[in-house]
Amino acid sequence: MAYLLGVDIGTSGTKTVLFDEAGNTIASALEEYPLYQPNVGWAEQDPEDWWRATYKSINQVIAKSGIDASEIKGVGLSGQMHGAVLLDKDSNVLRRAIIWCDQRSYLECEQITSMIGKERLIEITANPALTGFTASKILWVKNNEPEIFEKVKKILLPKDYIRFRLTGEFATEVSDASGMQLMDIPNRKWSDEVLEKLEIDKSMLGTLYESYEITGKVHKEAAELTGLKEGTPVVGGGGDQAAGAVGNGIVRPGVISSTIGTSGVVFAFSDSVTIDPLGRVHTFCHAVPNTWHVMGVTQGAGLSLKWFRDNFCIEEKRTAELMDTDPYILMDQEAENVEPGCSGLIYLPYLMGERTPHLDPRAKGVFFGLSAKHEKPHFIRSVMEGVVYSLRDCLEIIKGMGIDVSQVRASGGGGKSKLWRQMQADVFGTDIVTISSSEGPALGVALLAGVGTGVYSSVPEACDAVIKVKTVQNANKDLYDKYNKYYNMYKRLYNSLKKDFYDLADIIE
Ligand code: XUL
Repeated sequence: MAYLLGVDIGTSGTKTVLFDEAGNTIASALEEYPLYQPNVGWAEQDPEDWWRATYKSINQVIAKSGIDASEIKGVGLSGQMHGAVLLDKDSNVLRRAIIWCDQRSYLECEQITSMIGKERLIEITANPALTGFTASKILWVKNNEPEIFEKVKKILLPKDYIRFRLTGEFATEVSDASGMQLMDIPNRKWSDEVLEKLEIDKSMLGTLYESYEITGKVHKEAAELTGLKEGTPVVGGGGDQAAGAVGNGIVRPGVISSTIGTSGVVFAFSDSVTIDPLGRVHTFCHAVPNTWHVMGVTQGAGLSLKWFRDNFCIEEKRTAELMDTDPYILMDQEAENVEPGCSGLIYLPYLMGERTPHLDPRAKGVFFGLSAKHEKPHFIRSVMEGVVYSLRDCLEIIKGMGIDVSQVRASGGGGKSKLWRQMQADVFGTDIVTISSSEGPALGVALLAGVGTGVYSSVPEACDAVIKVKTVQNANKDLYDKYNKYYNMYKRLYNSLKKDFYDLADIIE
């Protein structure tokens, strides 16, 4: 029996999962770490925390599984996308990584657009300049911390920094590298034109692989720390969204996924480069060779509920601890007793600005329609509904691009909530499906490791071997009609408030 290891370097923690070749979870471990927010809209993490979480969680998984490390045929890495890890000539980290949800680089986006030209930028990178993407974060460091920038020798994405610590190789793969905005997306290679115009030396970037390809082998020092066998192959893996899509079987037209992690993502497969001319959804290379994907991203999905839990659900946290359960389960129970639509309380989840559809780093979170009738459970439910409205924004654009949406697969931490899945069915007006494994990104990269090491012959074949539909929840037509009215109001609110968001940003600065 072959075993495959998936490591997912997320925003709240690193999750490592060991699978057998039938996709069964043999053991898993999660190690958490902090997120630093030194300013409004800024978000940073310490790459050393990711590394510590990685080797500790791999160690725990191997110990729990009871298998011999030599039976692990390959390792796949998945990670939060877009973060910039800057290394000096001795490969030391120069500053905390500026991560995906950081919004500080909007001036640099204007700079990138004027340096390359709006249309040319979209032609090459398939996307407009966004604060979320790595290129603007790199330019921010160049413009604001020149003393650091002049020492930069390598720029790596979060999971690729972990690859470096595991194998000593500077490498990346097409699905995650797409989100750096330095690639020629139709041709799946670094763009000399973009690099030249932004004055970023190609030698600073990792060698670019397809996601299933072997990029290096675990070296001695990493083997000692992790418990892996020296020489174990590490494949490219994927950005967490592409990796999660593989783990959900989104490798053919028609089936799309809706993921509620820290961010929220609606993800669709595409066998050609399909671009939204308004740039509201991202077009990136998929982790399946010669295919691409389109995804809408809402910045504050699970992040919104976690923010609400940590600030306003202290009681639920305490009770959950006593009951040895998860506070989200108690919050779900409270929300379940509230009428759909929350008697008019509508939440805009723009706690970290917004990508799809507004591309607006200055947007802020809002509770609208508050009355004396509203109690805490209404707030919990309205946060959940607001996140789903924002996922519907993503879905509508994808449908409008002519992409077939015949089945939606729910995933991510939020996908575990039956209530949140039913809200998606009712707000989207589609059936919502779950699959046999809920390990999304970790499973996806383990499957890629299986393809790279010859356990499976291709990515779709790997998915067919392990992914089965588990549950189906149908949309309620009456609730769909009711939610439609609230969704239309939700859409109007951003437009009404847009100017105020900008004025507020000026006051805060
Ligand atoms: C995708 C994105 C997020 C992060 C964190 O573009 O920014 O999904 O990868 O999950």
